[in-house]
Amino acid sequence: MPLSPLDEIRAFLHCPTPDAWIEAALGQQELLLIDHANCEKKAASTALSLMYRYVDSLELLHLMSRLAREELRHFEQVLDIMAQRGVVYRQITASRYAAGLREQVRSSEPAKLVDTLIVGAFIEARSCERFARLAPLLDAELGKFYTSLLKSEGRHYRDYLGLAKAAAKGADIADRIAAIGAAERELIETPDTEFRFHSGPVPL
Ligand SMILES: [Fe+2]
Ligand SMILES: [Fe+2]
Repeated sequence: MPLSPLDEIRAFLHCPTPDAWIEAALGQQELLLIDHANCEKKAASTALSLMYRYVDSLELLHLMSRLAREELRHFEQVLDIMAQRGVVYRQITASRYAAGLREQVRSSEPAKLVDTLIVGAFIEARSCERFARLAPLLDAELGKFYTSLLKSEGRHYRDYLGLAKAAAKGADIADRIAAIGAAERELIETPDTEFRFHSGPVPL
């Protein structure tokens, strides 16, 4: 039987989100929303920067342009929910997650593009996995919103992975997926000092 899109994402990731992170998220929903807004904004910005750096692939340009629009739409939706709940948007520091994943990216092309796209696939996959875990535990409105995000974030994961394979021009990228997946697992399982959407577990 073929895997469901969510099961495929869970199989792609090297570990599930620790329960301690889920507990922290449920206890700090204002921070969850603020950092979620930041993640959507950052996702759009990453896609745009790829569109500046790599103009020779029509497929990449189209998929990243659509992805950036969708992430900005998600950003607006999070802002609306924050406003309804009286959550004030403030500057918060970024978690170590994205920077930690970027350390895995090799510096010469085309390896740099391949790795950057694989990192994108992991970030989208982890976001999708976390939305799915949180949705049934949240209030109805936020649960419905997070469920609505699963489909697009799941597609973003597949788009990034497909673009990584295309960028590798037939070379096998399984070892890169395995290495970046192991680093992602480490970032997700190692305790963190502050709760963020992509943080590790934090003490309550
Ligand atoms: Fe998004
Ligand atoms: Fe996304």
